[in-house]
Amino acid sequence: MKNVLRLLIIVFAISITSCSKSDEGNKNVLPGVYVKDSSTMGRYLVDEKGMSLYYFTKDIMGDSKCTEGCLDLWPIYYNANPVIGSGLNDEEFATITRADGSMQNTYKGWPLYYFVNDVEADDTNGDAVKGVWYIAKPDYGVMLADGQLVGDDGKNYMSDYKEGEGMTQFMVNMDGVTVYSWVVDRENENNFTKPDFSNDKVWPIADLNLMDMSLPSSIDMADFGEIDVYGKKQTTYKGWPLYYYGKDNGERGITKGVSFPSPGIWPIVNTTIADAVPPTPTEIAQAYYAGSLKPIIDTRCTTCHAGYHNQSNESDYSTFDHAMARAGGLYNQVNSGGMPKGGVKLSQAEIDIFKKFSDLVSDIN
Ligand code: HEC
Repeated sequence: MKNVLRLLIIVFAISITSCSKSDEGNKNVLPGVYVKDSSTMGRYLVDEKGMSLYYFTKDIMGDSKCTEGCLDLWPIYYNANPVIGSGLNDEEFATITRADGSMQNTYKGWPLYYFVNDVEADDTNGDAVKGVWYIAKPDYGVMLADGQLVGDDGKNYMSDYKEGEGMTQFMVNMDGVTVYSWVVDRENENNFTKPDFSNDKVWPIADLNLMDMSLPSSIDMADFGEIDVYGKKQTTYKGWPLYYYGKDNGERGITKGVSFPSPGIWPIVNTTIADAVPPTPTEIAQAYYAGSLKPIIDTRCTTCHAGYHNQSNESDYSTFDHAMARAGGLYNQVNSGGMPKGGVKLSQAEIDIFKKFSDLVSDIN
C-alpha cells in the first residue's frame, strides 16, 4: 500500500512538472527551439527534447570563441531549419558559420550550446559555470561579456586600464552594447548630463528598462536602480548612473569609451565594481555654489569684489573657496541689506540661497 501511494505521488509530480506553459513536454514537438518556463530558473531556451541551451560571454562579438576541447564540454546547437516555439521572436534567430566551417544557431547574436553535464531535460547544470556560461534566456535585460578592451585610440587595455592584452568582464545591454560609469558621478547622481542634453550624444544616458526582464544569475536585480535626469530615466548599477559611449555606435562588444578622454575616467561596469559613494558635504556645497550661488555673485557682487580690495583676493567671491571661507558673512551682509553696497537689495529667494549655502558649508566642518 505504501509503495502504491509513493508511486501515485511520483506520477502526480511528473504530471505537474510536464504540464508547463511551454511546448517541450509535448511528445510530438518538432525539432527546434522552445521556451521552458521554470519556477526556479524563469524562462529559458531548450531544444525539442527539453535540453537546456547556453550563451558564452566570450562570444560577445557574435562569433564563437568555444573551439576544440571547449566543444567537448559545450556542444554546438545547430538545426538548419528549427521550429521556433511560441514566445520567441523568429527574427532573433540566425546561423553563423564557425571558423572550422561548421554551422551554429544564434539567438540575439549569441551562439547557442548544450552542456555535456546536462543528462536529462530540465537539467541546467551549465548555468554560471566559471562566470562565463549562462543559461540562454530570451529576456535578459543585461548580459555579461568577456573580451579584450579596445579604446577609442585603438589601443588594448587591461582591467586596470593600463595598456596591454587581457580579458575583462563587462556588462552590456540586451543587444550587446557596452555600458559605462563615470568616476565623477556619485551615488544615484549624474554629474555629467546637461539639462539641455547637449552632451548626451557623447555619453548617452542608458535606460535599460529592466522591468519584467531577467538577469544572468550572477547579477543581483537589487543592485539596479533608476534615477530621473531632467525628465528622462537613467538606469543605475550599484549606485552608478549608466551610460553608453556615442562612438561605440550601438554595436556589440565595442569598448571605445574606456580610453576617452583618458583611460580609467569612464570605467566599464561589472559585478566587482565598488558601490558608488554619496557626495561629500564639500561636493554638495560645491555643486550648490556652482549651480545656484555663483550666478548671483557674478551678476551682483563681482563688479566690486573681484580685485576691489587691494589687501587681498579673499573678498573675490567668484571662487568656491573664497565664498566658503566667508559663507556666514556673505549671508549676514545680504540679509541685512548691507550688500550689494549702494545697490538694490537682493530678493528673498536670492537671500535664501545665501542662507542655504551657509548651512551647507557648516555641514562641512
Ligand atoms: C558697489 C560695490 C559693491 C558691490 C556691488 C558689493 N559689494 Fe560687498 N563690499 C564692497 C565694499 C567697498 C566693501 C568693504 C567696505 C564696506 O563694508 O563697505 C564690501 C564688503 C563686503 C563684505 C565684508 C567682508 C569683505 O569681503 O570685505 C561682504 C561679506 C560683502 N561685501 C559681500 C558682498 C556681496 C555678497 C555682494 C553681492 C550680493 C556684494 N558684497 C556686492 C563693495 C561692494
